[in-house]
Amino acid sequence: MKILLFGKGGQVGWELQRALAPLGDVVAVDHDSRELHGDFARPEALAATVQAVRPQLIVNAAAHTAVDKAESEPELARALNATAPGVIAREAAAIGATLIHYSTDYVFDGSGHAARDEDAATAPLSVYGQTKLEGEQLIAASGCAHLILRTSWVFAARGGNFAKTMLRLAAERDALNVIDDQIGAPTGAELLADVTAHAARVLQVRPELGGLYHCVAGGETSWFEYARHVIEWARAQGKPIKVAADAIHAIPTRAYPTPATRPLNSRLSTLKLQQAFGLRLPHWQTGVDRMLAEVYA
Ligand SMILES: NC(=O)c1ccc[n+]([C@@H]2O[C@H](COP(=O)([O-])OP(=O)(O)OC[C@H]3O[C@@H](n4cnc5c(N)ncnc54)[C@H](OP(=O)(O)O)[C@@H]3O)[C@@H](O)[C@H]2O)c1
Repeated sequence: MKILLFGKGGQVGWELQRALAPLGDVVAVDHDSRELHGDFARPEALAATVQAVRPQLIVNAAAHTAVDKAESEPELARALNATAPGVIAREAAAIGATLIHYSTDYVFDGSGHAARDEDAATAPLSVYGQTKLEGEQLIAASGCAHLILRTSWVFAARGGNFAKTMLRLAAERDALNVIDDQIGAPTGAELLADVTAHAARVLQVRPELGGLYHCVAGGETSWFEYARHVIEWARAQGKPIKVAADAIHAIPTRAYPTPATRPLNSRLSTLKLQQAFGLRLPHWQTGVDRMLAEVYA
């Protein structure tokens, strides 16, 4: 199988390079790739890349993921999150390729306390959420065979992330304030990449399983509990942690205003994915603890 991977250097893209390798020939590009155009800021030029590679499978891990920055640059966010995936989907349909793409819980308004399934009404609160939703819609309308995985709170050992920021602050400060009224599931880029590779194999023999799915790790937590988990993990390992356990304070979202509004309830039901693809999604702490071990190694 020939595979074209966009966004190879991101959290998920990096893990996809590993997970897709056993499936076939992977042509991986980023926005500054020299030979093949991979810059999503010029979406139409992506058509030539798809036509040149003529893959059976396209995996798109590129996106405008700077949620707050997107509020002040909506045109760029739209180009990266909607127009570019739309162009890729159109070209995938033209050559009969399957497209695997990632979306987000930010397509929802986060009201209530229940886990949302794939049929729940969307109502994005931010430019990022709105443009990611438009990306989903353009892919679905293109007629290409596709799989869209909506995920949340992605982390990886590579690059910056919430856990690493908390560990740095915990080593420097006497006290920390962390939001405790946003609930979701930290999901490893490793897990997303492994699910993608598994689903890609299943889709080869059962293309009717294509469509929209929620894909997050098991369990749920708040940013506050997530922070406490990583800090106490590090303390137990004898790492240099300054903040005392009782000096990590829970604060509400309204006490920490940001340009983009985040959903309070990011719970996603993954029943459809687990049943369709015969998968189990491990608890979020499993992936976070592996990431921490890797970071400290
Ligand atoms: N991160 C999360 O918490 C989260 C949550 C829900 C859903 N998702 C979705 O999951 C997918 C993967 O996210 P991630 O966490 O792996 O994101 P990420 O680490 O921010 O990676 C995004 C990738 O997009 C690339 N990119 C940026 N600008 C580009 C451009 N103009 N043209 C082409 N590529 C460009 C980045 O390249 P550079 O690194 O070189 O800039 C990077 O390779 C995305 O669809 C995202 O929306 C993420």
